[in-house]
Amino acid sequence: MDIFRKKPLWAYEADSKKSDLKRVLNKWALTSLGIGAIIGGGIFTLTGIAANIYAGPALAISFIIAGVGCLFAALSYAEFASVLPVEGSAYAYAYGTIGELFAWFIGWNLILEYMMGATTVAVAWSGYFDKLLHLFGISIPYYLVNDYPTAVKIAEQMHLPAPSFSVNVPAFLISWVVTLILVKGIKEAANTNNIIVILKIAVVLFVILVGAFYVKTENWHPFIPEPIKDPTNGDIRYGWQGILTAATIVFFAYIGFDAVSTQAGEAVNPKKDVPFAIIASLLICTALYVGVSLVLTGMARYDKLDLKAPVASAFAEAGIPWATYLITIAATAGLISVMLVMMLGQTRIFLGMAKDKLIPPSLFGAIHPKFKTPYKSTLLVGGIISIVSAVTPIQNVSEMTSMGTLLAFTMVSIAVLVLRYKEPHLERPFKVKALPLVAGGGALFNIVLMTQVRNETWHAFIVWGILGIIVYFLYGYKHSRLNELSKENNQASA
Ligand code: ALA
Repeated sequence: MDIFRKKPLWAYEADSKKSDLKRVLNKWALTSLGIGAIIGGGIFTLTGIAANIYAGPALAISFIIAGVGCLFAALSYAEFASVLPVEGSAYAYAYGTIGELFAWFIGWNLILEYMMGATTVAVAWSGYFDKLLHLFGISIPYYLVNDYPTAVKIAEQMHLPAPSFSVNVPAFLISWVVTLILVKGIKEAANTNNIIVILKIAVVLFVILVGAFYVKTENWHPFIPEPIKDPTNGDIRYGWQGILTAATIVFFAYIGFDAVSTQAGEAVNPKKDVPFAIIASLLICTALYVGVSLVLTGMARYDKLDLKAPVASAFAEAGIPWATYLITIAATAGLISVMLVMMLGQTRIFLGMAKDKLIPPSLFGAIHPKFKTPYKSTLLVGGIISIVSAVTPIQNVSEMTSMGTLLAFTMVSIAVLVLRYKEPHLERPFKVKALPLVAGGGALFNIVLMTQVRNETWHAFIVWGILGIIVYFLYGYKHSRLNELSKENNQASA
């Protein structure tokens, strides 16, 4: 048996014809799903650290650098999605081009992006929800809104005895709410997402347009502050090095555009609309992010920006305290749609892998007869996210999310080039110009960002990878549909 065997391209066509999913998403619904996944905790929180500590007013440049890097990857995703419009995303693209073991490895790492991503967002949501309740004068005991390690730290800071237990109840509950929406149907999920996306965009535009009146241009001088060495850890702050570090931080804010590619099975016209939505959602969000960074660093001096809730705090300090309510409500609602699309993506990738029998089809491929959703897999994914988010500190999951994503982006950039050279005559409704430059640039950008991640995260990432390879040889290698696919092909052509 060959670990480099590839799924033949005819099998993708056959699979998508057999699909039980409902094709209801048009190009704007797909774009909305992209925006739903992209705008979230990143813009509302990470901008504080990125501007205050690393980039200063040049945060806008960091957003442009990260946006261009993501655009390279997005173009590769778009070309692939136009050739292979199937729900497996990067996993499926690798399976048709590089081979089974790589594809499995990507699928395994996409669990980090989507499942860990949704877990990260569930924990972040709990933080925003708690803040929102505070604004309305309601407080929940800290041991009911934090995982145990975080609660112990909070108790120490407040000079209290360590709690005997602590569970993040809101994170647990929101995971189940999102799960149930997803089980109910793709239409319900898309409609919920649309409402949240409208609210999110409205509030981001509010931040830009109203915030613009409070910009003091002197706050932008110097636009790129002189680099200095952080005495505590030797990091370089500000200057071009600082801008690059900030770009790696705000990369998280862009994660999600690729989730559109997992919706190919539910798109009305996937070959055209999925590429459109991937690029459109990324460009719209890049423009919004650059706008927010300019306004934010213009409203408050960069070194005075709040590290945890920079956007809301900047408005409170500018004398518009009610805006804090608006921004906190939008962020709280906004994170729900990020979870929604991430979990949607995860279950569709599992569905793609289950069709190839690399994971058990009876569990991951089962479609609900009435709702037409992969309900067993959705319940399993939701259940795991609810438990992990209830007990795990946020930084442990957020960096793993970025690692999984960066690896997927790198592999897609490489795989799209491989396919171009191996199958130059395939029909490509979306064809990237100067592909070697775009794909090479994308791979390089993502590899550079991977080198910036902490050693601790690399260790966890390696352990996760080894575990994946073991699972592959114990299960996927033996059950793979490619063992029987040549027989299927013969039967089909007979
Ligand atoms: N891009 C998403 C966010 O910022 C993951 O929350």
